[in-house]
Amino acid sequence: MGKDMEAGRRGSGGLFRTKSVEQSIRDTEEPEHRLTRSLSAFDLTVFGVGVIIGTGIFVLTGSVAKDTAGPAVAISFAISGAVCALAALCYAEFASTVPVAGSAYTFSYASLGEFPAWIIGWDLVLELALATAVVAVGWSGYVRSLMDTAGLELPTVLQGPSATDGFSFDLLAALLVLALTVVLLLGMKLSARVTAVVVAIKVTVVLVVIVAGAFLVKADNYSPFVPESKGNVSGSGFDAPLIQLLAGYEPTTFGVQGIFTAASVVFFAFIGFDVVATAAEETKDPPRDMPRGILGSLLICTVLYIAVALVVTGMQNYTQLSVDAPLADAFKSTGHPVFAGLISFGAAVGLTTVCLILLLGQSRVFFAMSRDGLLPRLFSRVHPRFGTPYRSTMLLGGLVAVVAGFTSIEELASLVNIGTLFAFSVVALGVVILRRTRPDLPRAFRTPWVPVLPVVSVAASVWLMLNLSGETWLRFGVWMVVGVVVYFAYGRSRSRMNARG
Ligand code: ALA
Repeated sequence: MGKDMEAGRRGSGGLFRTKSVEQSIRDTEEPEHRLTRSLSAFDLTVFGVGVIIGTGIFVLTGSVAKDTAGPAVAISFAISGAVCALAALCYAEFASTVPVAGSAYTFSYASLGEFPAWIIGWDLVLELALATAVVAVGWSGYVRSLMDTAGLELPTVLQGPSATDGFSFDLLAALLVLALTVVLLLGMKLSARVTAVVVAIKVTVVLVVIVAGAFLVKADNYSPFVPESKGNVSGSGFDAPLIQLLAGYEPTTFGVQGIFTAASVVFFAFIGFDVVATAAEETKDPPRDMPRGILGSLLICTVLYIAVALVVTGMQNYTQLSVDAPLADAFKSTGHPVFAGLISFGAAVGLTTVCLILLLGQSRVFFAMSRDGLLPRLFSRVHPRFGTPYRSTMLLGGLVAVVAGFTSIEELASLVNIGTLFAFSVVALGVVILRRTRPDLPRAFRTPWVPVLPVVSVAASVWLMLNLSGETWLRFGVWMVVGVVVYFAYGRSRSRMNARG
């Protein structure tokens, strides 16, 4: 019996039965469930940048600088980027070792066992579906602001929940999600081409902000760089970061604590490099291309973010920054409306790829869970002509469109962050465990300093999670409990591992 069989049988029938790496790879060869391998390292980097640069930098920078960190939001971006870099080094190892659709889900199945894998898959659905909805809502805001400039206005009832206290459906956000669902159904190559053009526009706009903005920076705006810590008027009770609730001290904003709170929020801006791993099965040469795509896109975005944060808080005093469109409005405030229009346009175009790739990642995780029998198998049939998992794509696209129609950004961005940080922690642990259980596996990319680096990665992710509010923790807990119920009611008895024993 081969080593893979032994590993696969460990704990068979139990919650922690693992699916061997070899079995995962073999499953990708089944003709009816096979995806097309067409992506290169460059495509992956473009994908990464396409999904990473989005609402986080274009929208959240303003409110976070204004309410939580001041100009020190640049430090928050650096902290978040460092936490992500640790996680990315772990993701790079597993994505090059287990090049199968499903990202952290597949990896956990191979390293930690079925139940933890299900939990992670369920968690990724939360991350990716809600993040898609959040970004679609952010996009709709930018498009409405461009429409306003052109003298067009949608009725309030179609502007979404942020526009009114009464009933309102965000028509534009829902339409965007549906349109992107169709693009995904038509196949990866088309998606990659559309993405490449949009990413070029988006990166150009970000570079314009940095270069043109640098000439408009006033040193006065950096003083104080770390505003003095003060009581948080709105942050009472469950709104306060969990760490403050646990330690029992008064909620504060700004100061050093504010920098960390801000880091846990702007973390949203980095989400996406992990999604690159979900395209492993559609990559031509995963061992070589995966680490390049993941680490390359993260590095590019981190550098751009820190520069944008420094420039924007240097152009306009942090107390004056706009909450809806901070980058564009900073240019308006310095008397450069043409740049402002260009930036709004770039943001509106750029956010479409973020949605597209988040939606893609989510359909692939769902696809992988269905192929394993933990969700109904009919969702993992690929389309005979387009080669895409069309049923899961349509189902999820429809659901996300509805959620996007009724969602407001603030409520859900933190929930997305906690879900992602949780996945990071599990992946880092998985790297350590798989090194012990399967030292024989060929690893084209090895995470350095194992187990120290993964352990530091877990600690850093948990630290950011603790900086999120008690309320976010509660919502996250509820979602996970629902996941556990679904597993015991459905997946456990229908898992394909039952037949494989
Ligand atoms: N990182 C992505 C964004 O900021 C999700 O929109």
